[in-house]
Amino acid sequence: MRLSDLASLWPARPADEEVARFERAFAKLAGQAHAVAFPYGRTAQIGILDALGDPRPQVVCPAYTCVVVPHGIVKAGKQPVFVDVCEGSFNMDWNLAIEAAGPKTSAVLATSIFGQPVDPDGLAAFRTAHPGVAVIQDCAHGFFAGNMHRNGLAAFYGLNISKLMTSVFGGMTTTDDADFAERLRRARDLREEPSGLAHQVRRALYLMAVLVAFTRPVYGAVNRLERAGLLNRFVEYYDPALIDLPDDAFTAMGGIEARIGSRQCGRYASIVAHRRRIAEIYHEELADTPELVLPPRHPEATISHFVIRTSRAEDLKAACLARGVQLGELIDYEIPDMPPYRDAPYYGQRRSRSLPEQVINLPVHPSVREGDARRIALVIREALDSRSVIGH
Ligand SMILES: Cc1ncc(COP(=O)(O)O)c(C=O)c1O
Repeated sequence: MRLSDLASLWPARPADEEVARFERAFAKLAGQAHAVAFPYGRTAQIGILDALGDPRPQVVCPAYTCVVVPHGIVKAGKQPVFVDVCEGSFNMDWNLAIEAAGPKTSAVLATSIFGQPVDPDGLAAFRTAHPGVAVIQDCAHGFFAGNMHRNGLAAFYGLNISKLMTSVFGGMTTTDDADFAERLRRARDLREEPSGLAHQVRRALYLMAVLVAFTRPVYGAVNRLERAGLLNRFVEYYDPALIDLPDDAFTAMGGIEARIGSRQCGRYASIVAHRRRIAEIYHEELADTPELVLPPRHPEATISHFVIRTSRAEDLKAACLARGVQLGELIDYEIPDMPPYRDAPYYGQRRSRSLPEQVINLPVHPSVREGDARRIALVIREALDSRSVIGH
């Protein structure tokens, strides 16, 4: 996001034309025939499951994913079946997904978590074993990583401020199937109401706050506010005991979001190139650090997040913070242990359960410069060498 994006506040065309323009730009970027916009990634996922219209009740999905994904499955009237991660990866194990699917399965969510593409061979084996199960690509993180978005009936994307590309709020679906695109539009129209003036004013205020908060000199202050708990309303997006959706989950994308999204389509290539450069720096600088497990170095990963693992994550984060570097958390929960999902089927050995306490998210967003990444890596190495992390 840039300050020039404030121009998106001024309407150029009616909202429905802006949304249609954004959809065309996104479809072109994806290299697909159709794109249909939604208010959130999770409502895009619900739209796909609605449009599928398959009465079989189960949807196979990764155990290690964002908690809003099983919420979306439930809100679409389906039941999640969780599948463990693959050894050495954050992505779902396809051999277990093959076991998890059966006569009750309508769809599988193939997720390129953190921008690491789904394994195409594993997915091909799944398709052979279960030709009647719809493959839906969850590209909320991955976008076009490894071209996986085209490997299924439809794909959905998250477009909030933390995603690869943003319309500040928003979600998107893409498909090459004209009939399915039509069904998606009908499914969307059945649930959505238009975004009124008050909603657009709230979006405009949020956009202004985001642009100010993420300007470099202010970014440290944002982290301090977050530590003081003042941003909980924005950063704590789930309650482990509840299956819920935001109040405006079905309020249609408005003109402001669509104009920002259209502008961002033109920046997508440079955004991903930047993230790959920053990821390479972390790989180089942290390569000889046996305490850390670095993410796979996949040439087609789009690096929505650069997530490292260590058995001493809490100590390491605290030691880095003491040196002025705040490292992030990401998917630091085990969904199948949450009360609403305890009775849901789970396939695997619970490798997914060990990840939440091990993961650390290193920043790769557009305002991280190459020098910042080197400094962050240096601080991590120093912190690992220090007594506090070694635990003497
Ligand atoms: C893997 C994954 N899928 C789907 C979603 C849903 O996207 P949204 O937050 O836009 O609803 C998210 C959200 O972060 C996600 O991480």
